[in-house]
Amino acid sequence: MPYSAQILEHYNNPRNVGSLSQTDPNVGTGLVGAPECGDVMKLQIKVNPATGVIEDAKFKTFGCGSAIASSSLATEWLKGKTVDQALSIRNTEIVEELALPPVKVHCSVLAEDAIKAAIKNFQEKQTNVEASELVAA
Ligand code: FES
Ligand code: FES
Repeated sequence: MPYSAQILEHYNNPRNVGSLSQTDPNVGTGLVGAPECGDVMKLQIKVNPATGVIEDAKFKTFGCGSAIASSSLATEWLKGKTVDQALSIRNTEIVEELALPPVKVHCSVLAEDAIKAAIKNFQEKQTNVEASELVAA
């Protein structure tokens, strides 16, 4: 039995499954695919613009149990962190927490990539908002 109790627990009771509105300027969306297997992960964050703290995080993962567990854990870790703190989450921490077997390490990489993609999308949206405010001013 290669799967740890932690993986099964998140797989059976995934946290924060769902979607946030992509039109919300404070929501960042990351959509990434694993070249190894074709699994796809969508991860979203909602940031409080005044504090820079991530208030909400949601995911939808079309993939294996380890990818679902990795993204579920990632959303738990993201809530309450600043964007900078979120950027320092490493897939190796997910591997350790879930005791992922070696063949499933790439599933945690998918989660780290999805976090980074969601933050990048959020930051790009903020830049666009600032730019449009300058144009409007
Ligand atoms: Fe089939 Fe990931 S390759 S679930
Ligand atoms: Fe490819 Fe888990 S994400 S097997």
